[in-house]
Amino acid sequence: MKQVKLMQGDNILSLKKLPDNSIDSVVTDGPYGLSFMNKKWDYDVPSVELWKEIWRVLKPGGHVLSFGGTRTFHRMVVNIEDAGFEIRDQIMWIYGSGFPKSHNIGKSYDKKMSNEREEWLDDKKTQPNIRGNGDQLMISSSNVEVKDREPIKHSKGLSQWEGWGTAVKPAVEPICVARKPLSEKTIVDNVIRWGVGGINIDGCRVKIDGEDDRSAGIRTGNFGDTELTPGGNGTEPYIPNEEGRFPANIIFDETAAEMLDEQSDSNTSRFFYIPKVSKKERNMGLDLFEDKIIEGRDENQDELNVAYKKRPTPQKNIHATVKPINLMIYLCRLVTPPGGIVLDPFMGSGSTGISACLEGFRFVGMELDEEYFKIAKARINSYEEYRKLLKK
Ligand SMILES: C[S@@+](CC[C@H](N)C(=O)[O-])C[C@H]1O[C@@H](n2cnc3c(N)ncnc32)[C@H](O)[C@@H]1O
Repeated sequence: MKQVKLMQGDNILSLKKLPDNSIDSVVTDGPYGLSFMNKKWDYDVPSVELWKEIWRVLKPGGHVLSFGGTRTFHRMVVNIEDAGFEIRDQIMWIYGSGFPKSHNIGKSYDKKMSNEREEWLDDKKTQPNIRGNGDQLMISSSNVEVKDREPIKHSKGLSQWEGWGTAVKPAVEPICVARKPLSEKTIVDNVIRWGVGGINIDGCRVKIDGEDDRSAGIRTGNFGDTELTPGGNGTEPYIPNEEGRFPANIIFDETAAEMLDEQSDSNTSRFFYIPKVSKKERNMGLDLFEDKIIEGRDENQDELNVAYKKRPTPQKNIHATVKPINLMIYLCRLVTPPGGIVLDPFMGSGSTGISACLEGFRFVGMELDEEYFKIAKARINSYEEYRKLLKK
């Protein structure tokens, strides 16, 4: 197989074109079933039927790492299990940059009772002043008049419901760790026959000088001062490193690691983190693509505690849920043998594909949406540019 095979269309049909027992690992971020930003593709979690096809193409002992939303994770995991997989664990990606989607009960109560509220403008914190087709999910920049920023309006009431909401702030994304049952009696016989079944512990240790490996955190840096131990991927010789921390089932983003450090009175080097997706990382390889504005005001957005969730910044990569390359590198490396084939049946803008290529793995990517598919293809073709970016 060529290094990369990208298939546009419904993944259940694309999967039927792949032979049995041909894939080494599945690393994916499918629909969470939340209708995120009213996206049509996010209407339900992947079906048992789909997981059965994934089961068929995966080698016995092959792992699945699949992201889910906190509210629908259980449904996704049951479907994976019902398709015949063994549920092995759950990795938590903890981040500090989430937006609360909580309904302001006090404000609604005052509106209903026609109570007065004290109101004031915050000059220090501003929000974008959007005019135009603001209700559309995605609109080209020419349809939108993005004026200057305007001060955020605050208000406070006096009712007993002031300060009450309906949701806490999201700060975690769970990742299901599942495995197709072994075909052989022992794990050793299985890895000898199929080359899969294990987890690449040493390849995913994180080396931090002068620290022991008892901390629960995982921090994969930007290949900078804190880095994954070398080797363990498809191209470089594998060098086990006794000093690295044992990979754990928790991963932090930069903000979450800093918050923890503040509370534990230590410094960030105690924890591992995955930096957020930068604008450069989103858009690299897409120079020939048109800039568009991803506009996604949630229903009842004005009643929520956060006035504007989405910044109207023009983007070439218009996908709403782009995952960090470093996070996907870590996950691919954890479950894929050297030179193995990674499958992402919900490829979106291609972050798993870029990561697989950077690790020297082969990659099969599937995507339903034509526009996302083109973006993924261009980004994956530019994976060497990403290497330079990540090394900076
Ligand atoms: C959560 S996004 C993946 C985003 C990706 N991790 C990234 O970094 O860009 C899920 C993707 O699955 C795609 N999708 C949904 N249903 C599909 C199907 N039946 N076949 C193929 N792709 C599908 C959606 O179009 C969407 O782009």
